[in-house]
Amino acid sequence: MSKKLELLNAKREAAFLGGGKKRIESQHNKGKLTARERLHFLMDEGSFEEIGMFVAHRSKDFGMQNEHYPGDGVVTGYGTINGRLTYVFSQDFTVFGGSLSETHAEKICKIMDMAMKNGAPIIGLNDSGGARIQEGVVSLGGYADIFYKNTMASGVIPQLSAIMGPCAGGAVYSPAITDFILMVENTSYMFVTGPNVVKTVTHEEVTAEELGGANTHATKSGVTHFACTNEIEAINHLKKLLSYLPQNCEEQAPFDDYESGNESRHKLNEIMPENANQPYDIREVISEVIDNDTFLEVHKDFAENIVVGFARLAGRSIGIVANQPAFLAGVLDINSSTKAARFVRFCDSFNIPLLVFEDVPGFLPGTDQEWNAIITNGAKLLYAFCEATVPRVTVITRKAYGGAYDVMNSKHIGADMNYAWPSAEIAVMGAKGAAEIIFKREIAKAENPQEKWLEKEKEYSDIFANPYRAAERGFIDEVIEPAQTRSKLIKAFKMLENKVVNNPRKKHGNIPL
Ligand code: COA
Repeated sequence: MSKKLELLNAKREAAFLGGGKKRIESQHNKGKLTARERLHFLMDEGSFEEIGMFVAHRSKDFGMQNEHYPGDGVVTGYGTINGRLTYVFSQDFTVFGGSLSETHAEKICKIMDMAMKNGAPIIGLNDSGGARIQEGVVSLGGYADIFYKNTMASGVIPQLSAIMGPCAGGAVYSPAITDFILMVENTSYMFVTGPNVVKTVTHEEVTAEELGGANTHATKSGVTHFACTNEIEAINHLKKLLSYLPQNCEEQAPFDDYESGNESRHKLNEIMPENANQPYDIREVISEVIDNDTFLEVHKDFAENIVVGFARLAGRSIGIVANQPAFLAGVLDINSSTKAARFVRFCDSFNIPLLVFEDVPGFLPGTDQEWNAIITNGAKLLYAFCEATVPRVTVITRKAYGGAYDVMNSKHIGADMNYAWPSAEIAVMGAKGAAEIIFKREIAKAENPQEKWLEKEKEYSDIFANPYRAAERGFIDEVIEPAQTRSKLIKAFKMLENKVVNNPRKKHGNIPL
């Protein structure tokens, strides 16, 4: 036995060394951790159990039969994060550049299957040169197997992807199907074709960082949900994100301890500016309403006219969608609609109740928006809210104009409780524009058209620039003092705890894509 144990230990040591000391050094010199170091920081101490440490590739071309590294470029297994079971794969760039071979793919598929069967989240730590070039189509088949499993797992278990190195070509599509992507600034990039191909085809000169770095995808494309300054920050973000999520679609997210106290928040009475056209930061409202410092904003720097993220209310995990009057007046446009729609669908898949703050002047006008299909894209958010069956509560803080009123979790499309602050204005449009249209002739004929316009604007405003017309119809359940918002929401979500709604049976809906 002692000889056999020696052999086992030698094999383990070889596996721990990945592609060897030199390549580990080169990995560190690039400011990156190794696959195993990342797991060390991610998983609870001593909890990680590796699966498939000695898996080897089967390739025989290009001298590959003589080049083997135990594990074949990916460390896979399970363990706990904050005490909760999690499956993980971590690509090892020191072994063939973390490239994906047939067996590398099989290892990933194996733990994805286990995660699905046992109902626990899966995290992928991506750091890979893409398809294993020596293996050709076999490697491409491996990618497709992963994409298929990602799709089957979608909505069943949370899938998180951290990009900690290259992720190019076909490799991008696995993270793209998962629920959340995190990228690390300066050491990670994602693109379908790299700078050289771009230069050949479009003659554009662009660096890898500009084309597909963390900041590009966090601000311009929205491909990544989080841009982190370094790998440790990304790992801590993964842990925090998981803390708001259930293990699978059959479970509820974990509750935090919460002791009820005085839930009045008088600062909320002071937030609304005197003039309805002045901005304020909706994050201030959010932070007053939720449990202290519990907001985890998603897509923070993308489509900033809408704010989405997770928070806790009386210890319970909720998803927040809020128009942001401090950016483009909180208008809905293509990017904000798709950003919010995907977030709403994630929350609904995983039983996370939705809280909506509404202050929206309507949809953004213009050829750019129309020609790029604001109709289809705006419909995504509408569709996402309509089909969501989790508890849904709306607070209208100020403007709720036009079609955007309907879209933003109105009573009509299935919201459970709709509150309005006394500052709410629920109408087809702002009073100024409305007066100009419906009193056009009277204004034109008037001795002093400007004065007439102001008079008519006031007339319209007196009737509609308030929440009471909507409340009379029951479209608003209660007009509340802002200071009482937190208290009302805690009670409403508690009341909705056992909500059950079954949408009509179907194969699947056809969301406008
Ligand atoms: N298949 C097989 N081996 C690969 C690989 C791949 N797709 N990508 C990288 N490698 C190997 C390299 O041969 C090198 O091996 P070595 O350590 O024995 O020298 C090692 O991984 C590191 O690659 P290197 O090019 O030295 O690292 P880098 O940081 O300078 O560049 C990349 C990283 C990803 C930009 C570069 O390796 C690359 O362009 N790879 C190919 C990407 C690609 O076209 N993939 C296929 C399409 S999906």
